[in-house]
Amino acid sequence: MDIIKKITRRSFIKKAIITLVSLELVYVFVNLLKKGGETKVSSNLFAAGDIDLFEKGRVYPFSTERFYLSRLDDGGFLAISTKCTHLGCTVQFKNSDNKFLCPCHASAFNKHGEVLAPPATSALDLYNITIENGEIFVDTATPVKRAKYNSSQITYA
Ligand code: FES
Repeated sequence: MDIIKKITRRSFIKKAIITLVSLELVYVFVNLLKKGGETKVSSNLFAAGDIDLFEKGRVYPFSTERFYLSRLDDGGFLAISTKCTHLGCTVQFKNSDNKFLCPCHASAFNKHGEVLAPPATSALDLYNITIENGEIFVDTATPVKRAKYNSSQITYA
């Protein structure tokens, strides 16, 4: 009778250890899959359209994607975030004034996203642009912060 109890205990302990090790391996495997998935979501390319759709010197809203596509006088492009760099309100481009205005505290920005009037102190964020076969793609996943505008931020076809 005593021998049967020992075998049962040994068997139970062995199964418990195997179960714990298996659960640990499943946990590690699931976490590896999660981390792999996170690194794949690093870009979200939005097809804005063919470059010929956009006239030089004009600014086009993409409200649902929360950016403006600014085509500069020299033909280059900037994808400018609608989020004000002061406290995050949504800026709007006023064609009549040729600038972005923030309705919350009256900051103003030019077509390059540079600050024209405070309280904002940094230029509007940008989104990276790629142009393939004449079509514009804007990566809306990650806004690029910047203190000021410089010409290296412009994308050309
Ligand atoms: S949030 Fe835009 S000026 Fe304050």
